[in-house]
This record gives sequence, structure tokens and C-alpha cells, in this order.
Amino acid sequence: MAQTYEEMDAIAMLKADHRKVETIFEQFEKATTPAKKRELALQACLELKVHTAIEEEIFYPACRGKIEDDLLNEAYVEHDGAKTLINEIEAASPDDDFYDAKVKVLSEEIEHHVEEEEKRSEGMFAQARAAGLDMDALADAMRARKATAMEEYQAGKPAETRTLAGDDTASALAERDDSGPDAMEAPASRR
Ligand SMILES: [Fe+2]
Ligand SMILES: [Fe+2]
Repeated sequence: MAQTYEEMDAIAMLKADHRKVETIFEQFEKATTPAKKRELALQACLELKVHTAIEEEIFYPACRGKIEDDLLNEAYVEHDGAKTLINEIEAASPDDDFYDAKVKVLSEEIEHHVEEEEKRSEGMFAQARAAGLDMDALADAMRARKATAMEEYQAGKPAETRTLAGDDTASALAERDDSGPDAMEAPASRR
């Protein structure tokens, strides 16, 4: 039987999010009316805002110091590139110039980014798994945050970048400060 969302560990949960967004982008490609395009684009933007928030607030900080720094830093910058497009798309209408192009480029950027996260052995998730992070504890924290983030973004909060000029880049470099750097490590018996 397929795993429910509640039973998934952190990596299964993030991968399920990836598949969901890919499906929305595929549906966008096939959409023919401006109303359907806008509905699907907004759905993809909402899912991506929530997904990048839980990764940046919970998963990535737990990875800091435990996986390749370059990979993690590039992930934040890739998120920010996506977020600038997301905010543009949300503010635009399907009749505007470059609307379809923006959605297409966003989907391509996400495809590349997801590959970096999911790549076998050297990808971010594989490195995090090998580092022994507690994927069940991280999943619980992300499920809880996902619910509140969904409410915030549904209420109209725009995506916030962390690494671009003028941003407070310290937030992207910060360790989790609410639970200590080792709180999300699995107990030795579960490694
Ligand atoms: Fe992701
Ligand atoms: Fe990501």
C-alpha cells in the first residue's frame, strides 16, 4: 500500500512535493484557456513557496555542516531565482507578455534544482541521508510548518528571497537556533 503523507519521512515528503509540482507544470503545458493557465500557475507558485519555506527553515539548516556547503549554498540561490519569477508570475496575467515564458523557465529551473536535490549518491538528499539526519523528526517539523506556511501564503504573502543583493544573507547561513545543531541527528541506534 502506498505511504500516506503523514507516514513519510523527510525525504519522501519533499520528493512527493516535487512530483506534485511537476504534475501541475505538465497540466499548465496542456492548458488552453487563460483562466486555466492562471489557476495552474498560481497553484504551482503556492506549492513552491510552501516547499521552499519548509526546506529553508527546517531541512537545509539541519543539513548545514553535514553535507557539501557549495551544494547547499547553490540550493538557496536557486530558490531565490525561482522566487523572483514566482512573484512576477503571481502579479501577472496570462495575457501579459512573457507570461508563458516565465512559467516555462520557472519549471525548467525547478527541474534542474530538483535534480540536484534528488541525484543519486552525490545529491543533497543522498548526502543528508548518509550524514545520519533524523528524517522522521525532520518530517514532523516540516509537516507542522507546512500547515502554517500554507495559510500564510494562501493569504497572499509573497515569496521572500534570502541571498540576493540587499537580502539578509545571514538567514541562509544560520544554523537552527531553536533546537541546537545536533537536535536533528538520529540516535546512534537508528543509523
Ligand atoms: Fe525540494
Ligand atoms: Fe529546494
